[in-house]
Amino acid sequence: MAKDKLRRFAEFLNFPNCFDYPKHLKGKWKQEYFKNNNPIVLELACGKGEYTVALAAAFPEKNFIGIDIKSNRMWVGARMALAAKQENAAFARLIIEKLEEHFEKGEVSEIWITFPDPFPKDRHEKHRLTHPRFLKVYQEVLPANGLINFKTDDDGLFNYTEELFKQLGIAPIQVVRDVHGTEEADAYVRDISTHYEKLFRGRGRTIKFMKFLLPAQLPEVK
Ligand SMILES: C[S@@+](CC[C@H](N)C(=O)[O-])C[C@H]1O[C@@H](n2cnc3c(N)ncnc32)[C@H](O)[C@@H]1O
Repeated sequence: MAKDKLRRFAEFLNFPNCFDYPKHLKGKWKQEYFKNNNPIVLELACGKGEYTVALAAAFPEKNFIGIDIKSNRMWVGARMALAAKQENAAFARLIIEKLEEHFEKGEVSEIWITFPDPFPKDRHEKHRLTHPRFLKVYQEVLPANGLINFKTDDDGLFNYTEELFKQLGIAPIQVVRDVHGTEEADAYVRDISTHYEKLFRGRGRTIKFMKFLLPAQLPEVK
């Protein structure tokens, strides 16, 4: 298993659609990598990158980049994108906290956050990907009122996010509490399933989705 992981690490570094801490591409992703002026969409905590690959196929007029710290997971999506000859999909190994070292302000048009670790303990709140600390990171790369899509199985994380957004004055554009049990969600929210999504649905969890615009300024919360 460890050997397989090491092989994937090595291959990831050599794949033409994969990057390891690509600080040199900051502000230059469209010009130097995608070679077009299409909007860039990030999938954060992408794991195997199911959203990156599926959205890249569905929306050829946009560029997609899966972001994760584990390259052996992204290797799966990167291989699929290469096999499908997707020129609008890429993967970058980097720490989400350091997004602004890899993207210019406004270089990213939209963000997906797919099944992030929920960090249920109060003392770990600041690690949740919807915590104000992370919202500030996203503000550094999005334009004002940039679009964020958030999908999770975790009730605690979803409720926390809703409560926080009330305090911050963020009114989500769409909240879907049962993605697969209703017709409320768009097809690409319903029909694309990630590895963790399948795992948690198999355990009877209900999948939740929220879409919101991130304002340029946020009030301080206690
Ligand atoms: C629960 S998994 C979800 C993976 C995938 N989105 C899915 O639904 O199958 C969470 C992912 O977040 C990644 N991750 C956690 N913290 C991170 C960070 N600070 N920066 C980059 N990736 C992170 C982990 O490596 C892991 O792949």
